[in-house]
Amino acid sequence: MKVTIDGHEIEVEAGTTILQAARMIGGDVVPPAMCYYSKLKGSGGKCRCCLVEVTKGSDANPTPMPKLVASCVTGCMDGMEVKSKSSDRVTEARKAVTEFLLINHPLDCPVCDQAGECDLQNLSFEHGHANTRFIEEKRTFEPENIGDKIQLHMNRCILCQRCVQVAEQLTDYRVHGVLNRGDHAQISTMVSAAIENEFSGNMIDVCPVGALTDKTFRFKSRVWFNKPFNAHRECTTPGCCGKVTVWMFGNEIQRVTARKDEYHEVEDFICNTCRYDKKEVSDWTIEGPRKFEKDSVINVNNYSRKLEKVIINTERGILMGRDEDRKKISMAAIDYNKKIDGTEVKQ
Ligand code: SF4
Ligand code: FES
Repeated sequence: MKVTIDGHEIEVEAGTTILQAARMIGGDVVPPAMCYYSKLKGSGGKCRCCLVEVTKGSDANPTPMPKLVASCVTGCMDGMEVKSKSSDRVTEARKAVTEFLLINHPLDCPVCDQAGECDLQNLSFEHGHANTRFIEEKRTFEPENIGDKIQLHMNRCILCQRCVQVAEQLTDYRVHGVLNRGDHAQISTMVSAAIENEFSGNMIDVCPVGALTDKTFRFKSRVWFNKPFNAHRECTTPGCCGKVTVWMFGNEIQRVTARKDEYHEVEDFICNTCRYDKKEVSDWTIEGPRKFEKDSVINVNNYSRKLEKVIINTERGILMGRDEDRKKISMAAIDYNKKIDGTEVKQ
């Protein structure tokens, strides 16, 4: 069947959603998506970031849809015409959804490990306001320790439920979910029980914000100071593809993640052994630099194209040693449990 999005016509299979059709076209017409994840069954329909305007329902029934629809859960019809980026209504709605998502989200990008690869940061950059209209107190949660590998910051969670779907679809049995509703909704404290599973680390990769981050990488480096390389190993864990991205600082592997595509979705899931236990260069066959889509902040560190040699005479001392570099860009040595005056803080 034929569908037109922002003037681009494309043939799609029956059952294709508007978001999938837009991704086939690519570029600006692709709506942002915070909860849809093509590798997870049942994802989508939660965040409303992907709203589009259907200006013609189908050839059989050309009536426009009166309300904006979530493109990730709305199927294409033959002859359907859709406006995404080209619709002022859609732009306004995306701004409103972004504002809504930021109501309770803390502005801790400067200390958040997700900064630089955060979907909410990207969404805010394009659709956010510089100021907030929210004068009420933000929703906060007591910190919860869920083990030595994954850091949970419930205050940053946008309840997209992707991590719940990882637990449901990749681990043996689901032990966590969304507890309570409305303003009190939160990822259940039972998340700690799911962490033992060999595939639990994938929750980190699917989380669009910094609510679930890698404790073994915590505060080690900003992501744009790392150089990502594709690498693989013969992994014996059943279900693990063994194909990863290793994030290097000099010759040191600081983090291992699954390989992500241009929509920040993993190509294939990896096991915890690959993610946490294989941090030596000798553990991996390094294939070459990982390329990212052009707008990524990680491309600030892009080394896959030929660069002019930069000579920084005035800063010569700064580049003398790796350890000096590390001290300047790492926050690992900072004690976040203490305020500047030395008193303890509740995280
Ligand atoms: S913790 Fe992350 S992945 Fe899980 S629901 Fe919250 S935002 Fe989504
Ligand atoms: S991506 Fe469609 S509702 Fe979240």
